[in-house]
Amino acid sequence: MIEEIKKLISQTKEELKKGEDAAKLRIKYLGRKGRLADLSSLIKNLPVAERPIVGQVLNSVKLELDKLLTPKTELSPKQAVIDPTLPAMSLAVGHLHLITQAISKIENIFARLGFVRRSYPEVEWDWYAFESLNMPSGHPARDEWETFFVDEKKGQKGEVVLTPHTSSGQVREMEKGSLPIRMINIAKCYRRQIDVSHTPMFHQFEGLVVDKGINIGHLKYVLEYFAHSYFGVKRQIRLRPFHFKFTEPSFEIDVTCGVCGAKGCRLCKAGWLELGGAGMVHPNVLRAGKIDPEYTGLAFGWGVERVLSMSSGLKLPDIRSLYENDIKFLEQF
Ligand code: PHE
Repeated sequence: MIEEIKKLISQTKEELKKGEDAAKLRIKYLGRKGRLADLSSLIKNLPVAERPIVGQVLNSVKLELDKLLTPKTELSPKQAVIDPTLPAMSLAVGHLHLITQAISKIENIFARLGFVRRSYPEVEWDWYAFESLNMPSGHPARDEWETFFVDEKKGQKGEVVLTPHTSSGQVREMEKGSLPIRMINIAKCYRRQIDVSHTPMFHQFEGLVVDKGINIGHLKYVLEYFAHSYFGVKRQIRLRPFHFKFTEPSFEIDVTCGVCGAKGCRLCKAGWLELGGAGMVHPNVLRAGKIDPEYTGLAFGWGVERVLSMSSGLKLPDIRSLYENDIKFLEQF
């Protein structure tokens, strides 16, 4: 019987040589009712001692036939088609988050004017966030800041808050006692607000200059220098009179809208977008920071997200998409 089984190999080879179709032969030899199956059904008639030996032969012949009857799919080198002009597979490369990119851009622009980057606490005393900024407790001006209060015991410097603005770094910087000051404080801020142009956590950058003879001319120059460096020289800014308790005089700075080109759209409504506040440091704030009255200062505090969504060419109709962590959105930048 072993001989009979082994013969299947030579038979198959011959038939292949004659040009028989491999698929048909596969059915004939390896199919459920094929020759190999016939032979293996006979095993049970053999003496018990012979069965494993015949079984082994049967298996190896089966493997051999399978090899012979498997259609050859590899192309010979002559037939192989290699197209060297096809683009290579691209590798996914990560990058910094949009906000991180904006922060370093902002930092670099101010560095050119000699501003030094500073960081101050995100969880802050009321004193630095409000009181020292000429906003005594109970003053209605505080309402603007929609502050989160931390469930902590009151300390000497009042209640504990999540910094609602980077202005909380102003008096901290003054307290260091090293003059003149030219700081840029870029940090997270928190307020109870959420809509297309607000998120409860956002970023601000605060500029503070304190020196002898600082005036509005310096303020305007710095703001315009920044706007032109960041947005491009085509964008215009305007200073709108405003009121902050910690600056006098105070302004709000607007820039022409980059989404609609100052025509008016869903984002800007009337062509101008509010960048944020600015002004000359109020004497009471300088006093709180123990600054010699010979000195004057300028300050401004703008939103990083705001600035980013207003930069040229970037249409960002909803600021919240920055923090949804949707890779499809983020990987575009
Ligand atoms: N801190 C103000 C705000 O959050 C902005 C500001 C900073 C205004 C410095 C004037 C001077 O709106």
